[in-house]
Amino acid sequence: MGAVPVGTSLAGADDVVRLLDAPAGAYVHVPFCSSICPFCPYNKVRLGDVPAVPYLEALRREVDAVVGAHTARFGSFTSLYVGGGTPTLFPEVLADLVDRVPTTGRRAVEVLPTHATSARLDVLAAAGFDAVSIGAQSFHDPVLRRLGRPHDAAASRQAVLAAVGRFAVVDVDLIVDVALPGSSPAAATAVRTFLDDVAWCFETGVDQVSTYPLMRFGYTPFGLAPHARRREHAVLSHVAELARRRGYERRSVWTFNRVGSAPYTSITRRRFLGMGAGASSVTGRDLLVNHFGLAAYEAAVAAGRLPLARRFHLGAVGGAAYEAFWQAYAGAVDPAALAAAYGALGAGPVRALTGVARAFGLVSPDDGLLRLTPRGYDRFHDLERAVTYGLIEPLWAQMLREHAGGAVQAAGGWARPARGRSGPLWWLARALTERRAPDGVRPAERS
Ligand SMILES: C[S@@+](CC[C@H](N)C(=O)[O-])C[C@H]1O[C@@H](n2cnc3c(N)ncnc32)[C@H](O)[C@@H]1O
Ligand code: SF4
Repeated sequence: MGAVPVGTSLAGADDVVRLLDAPAGAYVHVPFCSSICPFCPYNKVRLGDVPAVPYLEALRREVDAVVGAHTARFGSFTSLYVGGGTPTLFPEVLADLVDRVPTTGRRAVEVLPTHATSARLDVLAAAGFDAVSIGAQSFHDPVLRRLGRPHDAAASRQAVLAAVGRFAVVDVDLIVDVALPGSSPAAATAVRTFLDDVAWCFETGVDQVSTYPLMRFGYTPFGLAPHARRREHAVLSHVAELARRRGYERRSVWTFNRVGSAPYTSITRRRFLGMGAGASSVTGRDLLVNHFGLAAYEAAVAAGRLPLARRFHLGAVGGAAYEAFWQAYAGAVDPAALAAAYGALGAGPVRALTGVARAFGLVSPDDGLLRLTPRGYDRFHDLERAVTYGLIEPLWAQMLREHAGGAVQAAGGWARPARGRSGPLWWLARALTERRAPDGVRPAERS
């Protein structure tokens, strides 16, 4: 493990770590892809359109500063998660990150199927990664073609087969798009194809299958389409039943795990510090967002500041609500843990809401927890979609404007931030929570 670097501090790093009430996981964002998938809403640019070296240098500085501040207060991180973009474009950076970020827990990385050859996976394992997420999306060529993926079904299958057994945890990402007219043959085929994909994954013995309903962010070229809500519920219930028969269990709204396997999570960690352009951090009572634009990100680091762009102060009530949301996503709310972390007053509104959810049969008590029922999973799926379109899409659309005139257009116009939707939920959230970021950036100073 590399020593904690000295003399690499950035203004704001200690302030951010002071916001934490417990040790954090580390999230590192690598925003480069060889080609851009039209459905993807994440912060990324096409490799070659923007130089990677200055970004990777700035990233190293931010990582050193955040690691130094976290280590001084809490010691090692609880985990390391490297996401993107396509982190496996830079294997040497991944190995370096393992050295720089001390962690007591899992080290996980997202892997594009074409990069998941036996040789490349061996390099990741040797570097110290013990968990991988394979972005297979589907094992059917027509689905992959429609999604505009840079690989075919054979590559998806080979990637999964190469990963199983090489890492302590192997996750496979699948996308299901059933936003097609009610009884059309195309919709029926989409459902059948997806269930076939899930069944194939279960046969391979992967540890986790993530089943993401396709989210259509207004700013992506994939275009908007109404969700077939009931069909999505039905498909996920079907997967839950299939999982039960194959020795898997539902561990969150969208993930199904081999019984007895260790969990693979990115967003359900209680506390995490995000590094890299577009990364966010959750400290308990605050949510912080880094600059999305690579130029803005690099400029902040060059000026000796943490590259923070936005701060949303959730407070005790908001912090408890945020944590309860992700607890519910993972299948069970823990009222005692929320009260311990946020106080009876902070956790009060969540307690009242879970009381209503219980009265409607959405959660049921189980050993001190409130576990989601099958109906509860359906409603939570709807809530997750509302949060995605009501809060995440408007925030990301605003942040993506930092690319304007640069990478976004250069990379084939993959995002038109002006088309990002926003409504009353976003307006209310900003009015209640947005504050000056700890590096001194005021909301009004942003572009
Ligand atoms: C950061 S992304 C991709 C990682 C890697 N670059 C890849 O494509 O294999 C992580 C996962 O998010 C999911 N995802 C991406 N866009 C999505 C969307 N619009 N709706 C739902 N899930 C999406 C995909 O399953 C993807 O594998
Ligand atoms: S889904 Fe496509 S565009 Fe998005 S991060 Fe993965 S490879 Fe890049």
